Amino acid sequence: MPIVRNKKIEVLFSAKELKKRNHELAEEIALSDVSNLLVISVLKGSFVFAADLIRAMYDVGLFPEVEFITVSSYGAGTQSGELKLLRDIETDVSGRDILLVDDILESGKTMQYTRDLMRSRGANTVLIVTLLDKSVKRKVKINADYVGFECPDKFVVGYGMDAGHAFRELPFVGVISGDA
Ligand code: IMP
Ligand code: MG
Repeated sequence: MPIVRNKKIEVLFSAKELKKRNHELAEEIALSDVSNLLVISVLKGSFVFAADLIRAMYDVGLFPEVEFITVSSYGAGTQSGELKLLRDIETDVSGRDILLVDDILESGKTMQYTRDLMRSRGANTVLIVTLLDKSVKRKVKINADYVGFECPDKFVVGYGMDAGHAFRELPFVGVISGDA
C-alpha cells in the first residue's frame, strides 16, 4: 500500500485502470453527435482527468477547445447548497457543443449549476463526463452522460482530487486508510 505524507493510501483505481477507462470514455464521446466541442474542466479537482481525457480524445480523432471554470460552495462543509462562480470561462458558448468535465458527481449541485449556466448563455448541447459517480449521494436530479467509474461512498484523493489541498499529485485514485 503506498505511503504518502505518513498516510497509508488504499488504491481504488490504479493509473493503468484510469488510462484504460479514459480511452474507453473518449471512444464513447466520439460516438456522440457533437461538433467543434468545447471541453470545460471544472476546477480544481478535474484538472488531471481533463488533461488525460483530452489526449485520449485526440487519439480517437477529436480536437476539442479547452476552457476552465471554478465553481465553489458557499462556506465549505455547509449544507446551503448555494454555489458561486469563482472563475469564469472566457469563451462565448452560444451555439456551442460543450462537454463539462468533473472529477466527482456527488450531490449533483455543482454540475447542475454549471450546466444551467451554460444553457442560459445559449449553449447548444451540454454533455457531462465525470470520472467518478457517487450516485448514492445525489441530491438533485442530474446524471452524467459519461461515467468513468461508480465510486464507493468514501472520501477519495489523488488524480487531481484533494484532502485539505494535499494528494492531488497521486497518479491513482485512493482512500486514506490510516497512519503509516
Ligand atoms: P457536488 O456534486 O456538487 O456535491 O460536488 C461534488 C464535488 O465535491 C466534486 O466535484 C469534488 O470536487 C468534491 N468532492 C466530492 N467528493 C469528494 C471526495 O471524495 N474527494 C475529493 N473531493 C470530493
Ligand atoms: Mg469538482
